[in-house]
Amino acid sequence: MTDERNDAVRLTDDQIERVAGLRGAFLCVTPVVTLHVVEDTAADVAAAEGQLDLTGRATDEFAERVRAAVAAGSGVPRSVRIDDGLTVVVGATLSDGADRPREVLPAASDVAGRQNVVRGRVALVTGGAQGFGEELVRRLVGAGASVFIADLNRDGAARLSAALNAEYGPVTAPLEVDVSDDASVATMLHDVLVTAGGVDLLISNAGVLKAGSVKELSAKDFDFVTRVNYTGMFLCAKHAARMMAAQNATAPTDRLTDIVQINSKSGLEGSNKNGAYAGSKFGGIGLVQSFALELVADRIKVNAICPGNFLDGPLWSDPDRGLFVQYLRAGKVPGATTIADVRAFYEAKVPLGRGCTGDDVFRALLYVVEQQYETGQAVPVTGGQNMLS
Ligand SMILES: NC(=O)c1ccc[n+]([C@@H]2O[C@H](COP(=O)([O-])OP(=O)(O)OC[C@H]3O[C@@H](n4cnc5c(N)ncnc54)[C@H](O)[C@@H]3O)[C@@H](O)[C@H]2O)c1
Repeated sequence: MTDERNDAVRLTDDQIERVAGLRGAFLCVTPVVTLHVVEDTAADVAAAEGQLDLTGRATDEFAERVRAAVAAGSGVPRSVRIDDGLTVVVGATLSDGADRPREVLPAASDVAGRQNVVRGRVALVTGGAQGFGEELVRRLVGAGASVFIADLNRDGAARLSAALNAEYGPVTAPLEVDVSDDASVATMLHDVLVTAGGVDLLISNAGVLKAGSVKELSAKDFDFVTRVNYTGMFLCAKHAARMMAAQNATAPTDRLTDIVQINSKSGLEGSNKNGAYAGSKFGGIGLVQSFALELVADRIKVNAICPGNFLDGPLWSDPDRGLFVQYLRAGKVPGATTIADVRAFYEAKVPLGRGCTGDDVFRALLYVVEQQYETGQAVPVTGGQNMLS
């Protein structure tokens, strides 16, 4: 992937569904493809090398024709014309299938092979520039996924993407997004579509926190938290689900695609003087359960992961604005005189005696993606701090 945005082409809703459907067809024959949608001018068409003259919609018949072309030894089609002025060019940026073996699901007993469930998949992580999002981006790339790093902080996303691409090759791309804005989320998924042809795993991770007493919290702060954490999950799920549904309709496989919300232990249990945050996270689980019921028909699983406190992450450990510093200054922890005291107080609340890490959350992510017989669940990753009843 590159970080070029394909601003020249703006697809209609109908075209988005059809291009996503085309990717479904390609996935029948190769695990990862990169699609570039170009205006169907004579020059563009001439520029598409080795073009096969496949014309059609993303139907079963079309998928059969793609399969037949490959079986006949033509290789992966380089270019496919669809009507109304668009050509879909299968790029070689990520793979033509050569360097990414066809996806094989690991056996349930093969715990070491669990990472293979994301190998060759296209993932999108919102809030991916730092914190839990960055932890997941790094591990997904390490496990062989191609990852869009979407964040309000475009520079941060671009820096992380450049660092990962320098190490692994062109496997990530940054995208600027405000998850609380419908048009911005639509643009994010449009960019994913014209770069990668679709998405297999959406991780709705971007989140914010404004703590405060119910007697004092401003309506503005309450709205801000609700829009990012709650509305943001809805918007990301909405636009991703449409794309995934089109992919899955064209070429259903044994695998279901995934929408995963990074929720919180505060989505399972109230949080004192943190009601806006906890409320938005409880609401997120309501969305997850409801969307799961609906989207099972589109072969999409929807689950939440509910981490405990990421004590080593920037939210807690930032030396200027982190919660440790804030809680120390506010005297929130009785008797604490140092940051270490505040940290020890929070660690002591956890039966397993430590904060949550990126590895812990990634393990849960691999579980929900690998699991083909669960949806609508909220998986706690809290070291025993929250226990399901
Ligand atoms: N840190 C924790 O202890 C903890 C615990 C449980 C759950 N969580 C959840 O994990 C997720 C990530 O938290 P974190 O601690 O890593 O946060 P963080 O503040 O370290 O990172 C959040 C990222 O989201 C981005 N972001 C913020 N608003 C955005 C918006 N409107 N659109 C797009 N991107 C936006 C930020 O730029 C940032 O890069 C959140 O949903 C949070 O609720 C965090």
